[in-house]
Amino acid sequence: MTQSTPVSENRKTLETLVEEISRYEHIIGQWDQNQQVVVERLKEAVEELHKEGLTRLIRSVKQESMRALRSAVEDEIVYGLLRYHQLIKPPTPPLEDRIQQALETVRPGLKSHNGDVELVAIKLPDTVEVRLIGTCSNCPASTLTMKQGVEQAIKTYCPEITKVVSVNNSSKVTNNNGHSSSPFASSQEIGWVALASIDEIPNGGILPLEIEGLKLILTRQDEQVIGYRNSCNHLAMPLDTGKVEDGILTCLYHGFKYRLATGECLTAPGMSLEVYPVKRSGDRVLVRVS
Ligand code: FES
Repeated sequence: MTQSTPVSENRKTLETLVEEISRYEHIIGQWDQNQQVVVERLKEAVEELHKEGLTRLIRSVKQESMRALRSAVEDEIVYGLLRYHQLIKPPTPPLEDRIQQALETVRPGLKSHNGDVELVAIKLPDTVEVRLIGTCSNCPASTLTMKQGVEQAIKTYCPEITKVVSVNNSSKVTNNNGHSSSPFASSQEIGWVALASIDEIPNGGILPLEIEGLKLILTRQDEQVIGYRNSCNHLAMPLDTGKVEDGILTCLYHGFKYRLATGECLTAPGMSLEVYPVKRSGDRVLVRVS
């Protein structure tokens, strides 16, 4: 009697699948140009077929259960495939996280003048109130600081915000839903987990981390820390084995390039890295895992 192999043992890993593709790409790379053009056209045709099939599949699964679709996308191969075909976009972090991320980018400059900034209120749909504190609050240049630094940073991270207003009191964040929380919450805040200390992240480089199955890379540009999903947008291979040079991270597998300061993909525009909300609490770096 022949014994059948359990399905799970037949499953290929992302690594073996990508290795196989790389092997054929290497062989084809040695063919003459005419042959390569034919292969390229064939690849495009097959990919178009797959994209159309996946589009229909998503539409149908979505109608039945969004939950099932979300859980399928958690799989790294499914995620990579859908990103490759541009059928999913990385989720946009919540507005408050993006505002805090924007404030993080201007904080080092304010702190060098013994100042700081805090988020006071989010007034949907388009207004944010902030407060300059410390020396910045009574500095004659504070209006300029607000305009040039804080306002610009918030509008860059949150294009839906068109008004940034400076107010003089309150240190609580409130939004239209009545939710309230401290803008400088500690690691005790629900959903935020301390991951690393700032010194562990090489300046201009990357630090790979894993928490609750979430694979991340952290990068640091001086005092600013950014978190990305550790997944290349080409074929979803991990990025932490890549090479970093002059602020550009190059994926080890097929050379996709990403600007670490922004996550922008230089090889395929529009395929930016997925940002994860991170923030600093003193020397510690926290990530949102909710
Ligand atoms: S997986 Fe191919 S370039 Fe990254």
